Amino acid sequence: MPEAVKEARRGNVLVLTIDNPPVNALSVEVLDALAAAVERAAADSAVEAVVLTGAGKNFIAGADISLFPRIAAGEMPPVPWQQYMNRIENCPKPVIAAIQGAALGGGLETAMACHWRIAARTAQAGQPEVKLGLIPGAGGTQRLPRLAGVEKAMEMCSYGDPLDAAEALAAGIFDQVVDGDPVEAAVQFALTGPAVRRTRDLQDRLCAPEQAESLAEVFRQGVHRRMPHQKAPEAAIEAVAAAARLPFEEGLAAERRLFEQCLRGEQSRALIHVFFAERAAAKAAGLPAPRPVGRAAVIGAGTMGAGIAVCFANAGIPVMLYDASPEALERGLAGIRKQYEAAVKKGRMDEAEAARRMERIRPAEGLAEAAAEADAIVEAVFEDPEVKREVFCELDAAARPGALLATNTSTLDIDEIAAATKRPESVLGLHFFSPAPVMKLVEVVRGRATAPEAAATALELARRLKKIPVLAGNCFGFIGNRMFLPYRTQAVAIAEQGGAPEEIDAALTGWGMAMGPLAVGDLVGHDVWLMIRREALRRGVPHIPVSAFEDELPRLGRLGQKSGSGWYRYDENRRPQPDPELIRLLREYAAARGIEQRPWTVEQIRERTLLALVNEGARILDEGMAERASDIDVVFVHGFGFPAWRGGPMHWAEAQGKARVLARLEALYDEDGPFWKPAAWWR
Ligand code: 3HC
Repeated sequence: MPEAVKEARRGNVLVLTIDNPPVNALSVEVLDALAAAVERAAADSAVEAVVLTGAGKNFIAGADISLFPRIAAGEMPPVPWQQYMNRIENCPKPVIAAIQGAALGGGLETAMACHWRIAARTAQAGQPEVKLGLIPGAGGTQRLPRLAGVEKAMEMCSYGDPLDAAEALAAGIFDQVVDGDPVEAAVQFALTGPAVRRTRDLQDRLCAPEQAESLAEVFRQGVHRRMPHQKAPEAAIEAVAAAARLPFEEGLAAERRLFEQCLRGEQSRALIHVFFAERAAAKAAGLPAPRPVGRAAVIGAGTMGAGIAVCFANAGIPVMLYDASPEALERGLAGIRKQYEAAVKKGRMDEAEAARRMERIRPAEGLAEAAAEADAIVEAVFEDPEVKREVFCELDAAARPGALLATNTSTLDIDEIAAATKRPESVLGLHFFSPAPVMKLVEVVRGRATAPEAAATALELARRLKKIPVLAGNCFGFIGNRMFLPYRTQAVAIAEQGGAPEEIDAALTGWGMAMGPLAVGDLVGHDVWLMIRREALRRGVPHIPVSAFEDELPRLGRLGQKSGSGWYRYDENRRPQPDPELIRLLREYAAARGIEQRPWTVEQIRERTLLALVNEGARILDEGMAERASDIDVVFVHGFGFPAWRGGPMHWAEAQGKARVLARLEALYDEDGPFWKPAAWWR
């Protein structure tokens, strides 16, 4: 096994390089080797200073995350993270961190345990532990406020967003940012004989305890809004506030206690599950090498098509954009230009970069012109099978051999579309979510004939677009919309049976969903929902009622937010208000069909909707339409506002216990019929 920490001498300076691919995560082996190497250097009279760096693109991406579930499960003892850091900081000779790429979590904590920090322009400094349901556990909550002040430290530890090199320099975390090699700069600095400056001894940036407490109150309110229900952000705020109140060692003890609490909690288990699930989803066993994609085309310049073109341009891939209507094409391009202008105004990119990206998107006069040079073509025209088949017939004639032909559909049958071509092996679904440049999820849908190479190319392409791709089978609605349908079906059924829309939605947002299921209906539009339900019935999706109250809404002109009413009534700012008229309509509907109305508890609403959701997920797994349960979790967390801190629907269900879920499904089956037939997966 290669050494985790490599040693090299530059005169009297010892350069230690952590070499633990892919991201130099701190395993116990790395920490042991690192602390021992620093202590040997302290004892070695030939060494006057130590430079500490990481091999490859990153300094250190943090503690090895795979250790946490094992520690929480009692499979290994807790790691004394703080002690390792203290051993570095206590070196009597200057230790200088030379930072490139990520210094995140335990990586930044290691850098802060060093006496000086010299960084490349590519460097990033952050304490993202809260995104894993944790807080910094290697002294970060105590050292960061001593370098950057209590306010900055609270912000970084409670929200978890990293700083770039310039920001970290301005915040006082980095001492120097250099254009060249940071190791070289650190060695030169070491030769000037810098002092041993322990972060724990710095006091001047700490504030009074009362001031820290009022800052804490402000941050608590902020995290309640931005990260509702999550426990780690508050724990992080408390730990940083302790730095202003307590001597360093006692502050460390407070951090240890809070870290332990988070580590033993459900939320960190769930968030760590999502971290690894996201990375696993992008990989599929047994696929060949992908084909390179140098140029792309998007057919259809509506909201979705224009958004997908932006994704290509942002990833540096030139893209031709075509729409059968020249006006729609012009509108699409104007919309894109506006988006880039807004990004420049908000300071997210400079004008030159916006111009470069805009330049990559070229309008095409004809479909053949758009398709001719492209290695990947994404069709994003109106969701109508006939229109899509026509486009694919034309693409078949115009595209080069081997080009990837993707349809951005959410409900249509990929095989029906592929059959319009003589090359179904090149056809697959690329289901982007709206708004395409923002939403990370892309379902990659394999048809019956899709070649493994096409699937591999689509996965790689999605990764280049900085998306999280998930492979799905060609069933109605693929993974996400297929599961969403029975979930919403239950919400609608509960409303028919006397549940007030605002109670149904509040039961689920109170549980952590970003939006209630009925409010989602109003957002998407009831004309669209009716189309989706009709397509589901046409495709013979089982257990979907042939009629539902929601089908009435378009006829009544209640299309949702866009028409000012749906499940709710909307004011001019699109704020929903409960609508007595809707309740009257629901009562009439129920009375005419003999549906009994009754009050519903929050627990009953949650149970019915969530069990409908996860049972459909289990059916998807029974049928092999998803590769793994964790892929379903990724789809819901990134595409449907499912709370990441619950780990996704299948993780949540497994955490309840499969046997328990099965028992409840069986009870509902007896009470309410075949809709609840439990999937085999529960057994
Ligand atoms: N531990 C273990 N594995 C890690 C890791 C970590 N801290 N960070 C990344 N990896 C793994 C990934 O799982 C992936 O493995 P795979 O190839 O087998 O799927 C591989 O490294 C590459 O990761 P990405 O695909 O994410 O690579 P990118 O280049 O896109 O991103 C990164 C690099 C920005 C460093 C990103 O990986 C990242 O954000 N990592 C997590 C950072 C983090 O959360 N650190 C805090 C950890 S908790 C902690 O430090 C607690 C401490 O306070 C005690």
